[in-house]
Amino acid sequence: MIRSFKTDLRWSDVTPRAAFLNRRQIIAAGMGALAAGALARPAAARIEAAASRYSTSEAPDSLETITGYNNFYEFGTDKGDPAAYAGGLTVDPWSVKVDGLVDRPGTYDLADLIKGQPLEERIYRFRCVEAWSMVIPWIGFELSGLLNRLGVQSGAKYVAFETLLRPEEMPGQRARFIDWPYREGLRLDEAMNPLTILATGLYGDPMPRQNGAPIRLVVPWKYGFKSIKSIVRISLVDKMPPTTWNMLQASEYGFYANVNPEVDHPRWSQASERRVGAGLFGGRQDTVKFNGYGDQVAGLYAGQDLAKDY
Ligand code: MTE
Repeated sequence: MIRSFKTDLRWSDVTPRAAFLNRRQIIAAGMGALAAGALARPAAARIEAAASRYSTSEAPDSLETITGYNNFYEFGTDKGDPAAYAGGLTVDPWSVKVDGLVDRPGTYDLADLIKGQPLEERIYRFRCVEAWSMVIPWIGFELSGLLNRLGVQSGAKYVAFETLLRPEEMPGQRARFIDWPYREGLRLDEAMNPLTILATGLYGDPMPRQNGAPIRLVVPWKYGFKSIKSIVRISLVDKMPPTTWNMLQASEYGFYANVNPEVDHPRWSQASERRVGAGLFGGRQDTVKFNGYGDQVAGLYAGQDLAKDY
């Protein structure tokens, strides 16, 4: 059963681009309040007019870099595979199953699910466990807003996420080295942190398929593998859920996966990182604990030994 709040809108009717362009116009006009035009569009979200206080002032990497150098194993393991092979992924219609310890479970059409969530641009640093990094201008909304709307029940301690399983359109899923679908999870307080967003676009356009269309998680203080793409299921659960990289190699990939220069990967150092957009021979820089977001998130781990809870 497809659960619907009451609209027959399709995801393509509420693309971030329309809203984002509107936001630009508002800023240009110096009005600084709501994107009135976006509100007039059916079901379109409100856009914050001011630059997000959570955004970095670092310059974003180019669209070419962000969409040409990807990890999305459902389409292959080379960095260029997602751009080469994700084009055939059907992203509309798209539904997301919500289940577990939640007041309003169901299978929602994406447009219904995210209706009313205030989209904004978040320019975040992004750090892969492989020691490369980028700066990416996402369009998205805080996961907490959606969870509050769905009604998290008191027994819920974690949020689990799953990616689409569709080998016909995701050729990498024919390789069985991963127990598909790709799975990830967050502790509930991590999920409710304002930095944690569900992103539906980048650079003002709907999310490119290789970056996780039509909706993906972004958790900027954690290694990139936590930021699961093309989500079709969100579950509120009471136990730490199994997660793909941890299932593959628990000694190398922990559940927390907080960016941490003091805790090396068993096979390489995490003390520095390579900024992808700077080219192969430039852009080496020190890794910052929690990827630079310590002010907002260090408190989540008070009393935890992050060398143990890696
Ligand atoms: N989500 C799915 N479903 N499959 C994946 O292979 N790779 C992860 C994460 N989310 C991955 C995924 C890893 S390892 C990284 S670094 C980021 O996606 C890469 O995101 P990007 O390609 O948008 O930079």
